[in-house]
Amino acid sequence: MAATSRWRRPSARRGYHRCNMEPRILAVPDDLLAIGTGHAFTAVASLDELPRGAMLRVTRGDLDLLLAHTELGVCATDDRCPHMSAPLSVGVLDECIVACPLHSGRFDLQTGETIRFPTTGGLDADGGYHPPWTPPGSPERPEPTDLKARARALTRVRRLRFYPVRIRAGSIEVSFPSGRPDPPAGRR
Ligand code: FES
Repeated sequence: MAATSRWRRPSARRGYHRCNMEPRILAVPDDLLAIGTGHAFTAVASLDELPRGAMLRVTRGDLDLLLAHTELGVCATDDRCPHMSAPLSVGVLDECIVACPLHSGRFDLQTGETIRFPTTGGLDADGGYHPPWTPPGSPERPEPTDLKARARALTRVRRLRFYPVRIRAGSIEVSFPSGRPDPPAGRR
């Protein structure tokens, strides 16, 4: 089995995981499944490591995945914000919405859609432009006017991509893209 490493964010809601509901797999859109997945599954974590309301980063080679146990089930996506690649696993999970720790972007783990656009503005998945904005209570900051501004404006926030998940005998298994070489041994 390929080596994986993991980093777990403590559950955002204490006591939230104490119910005994059978874990489900979160249904995600088929067209948002990562290319090359669905052929084979690899165990990446035990269910005990991912109580409801928690997020967990698992790494296989150079691929960092976010496992999230939402109110509607378990899912796996890239542990990279679709805006500027920040690790979503250190953000906040609220029901099926994950908040990025950097630019206040919020993303729906059920649909892959952006729920709140990052403060920097930019392009959405369909190419629509969103201007920069300032969170309530934060001081207004001058917007850059140089190449940085152009880079921000042209940064596209695509929809999340997902990895098929299944649960077997208390173990969470993920389907990685086929053809990926086995990672070097050891933890990252
Ligand atoms: S990196 Fe996540 S919102 Fe910018």
